Amino acid sequence: MKEHVCPIWVGYLLASPIRKLAQNPKKILGKYVKSGMKVIDIGCAMGFFSLPAARIVGVNGSVICIDLQEKMLKSLEKKAKKAKLADVIETRKCTSNSLQINDLTGQIDFALAFAVVHEVKNKEKLFTEIHNSLKKGGKMLIAEPKFHISKENFDESIKIAQNTGFRIIEHPAIKRSLSVLLGKVKC
Ligand SMILES: C[S@@+](CC[C@H](N)C(=O)[O-])C[C@H]1O[C@@H](n2cnc3c(N)ncnc32)[C@H](O)[C@@H]1O
Repeated sequence: MKEHVCPIWVGYLLASPIRKLAQNPKKILGKYVKSGMKVIDIGCAMGFFSLPAARIVGVNGSVICIDLQEKMLKSLEKKAKKAKLADVIETRKCTSNSLQINDLTGQIDFALAFAVVHEVKNKEKLFTEIHNSLKKGGKMLIAEPKFHISKENFDESIKIAQNTGFRIIEHPAIKRSLSVLLGKVKC
């Protein structure tokens, strides 16, 4: 299958405040992310979810924002600085084959993968790396765009995640999305 990576211009659209009308990050994340938590935002782009997550975790927590594209991360860094969240947000450039997060093993409370799983070719590796990074009891929220990801395709991704050790907790209602909250049961 041909790889598709979100273009930079779409990154600007995704970061638009108008999107909050349908997908409010504070509401979506507020159920799972708490003050002091350590969070990873996979495929963070320009930080539509990373900045609100950083506000929730506060100075005693951290949000590690991971993306393939340097331009996305640079834009996010600027926004974090402007919002006085630079101390809470760390950006990391990964490769298409690895998130390169071995140093985070067993440290993460919550992982977000919003509108990114369909762009990753090696899903087994993606979920294995995320699973390893989570603490026991840690959670991962996956949301995929309903308008271009089929239910079958989404279910296939969940199966792969389950095979790497995740279990399904719930299917939260998120507008325009197919979504699942997964949990890490064993270390
Ligand atoms: C459609 S955008 C979603 C951005 C953001 N999560 C949101 O909902 O606003 C997908 C992002 O994932 C990034 N991406 C694609 N493949 C990736 C991979 N293998 N690892 C990490 N990030 C990736 C892209 O560069 C892009 O910024």
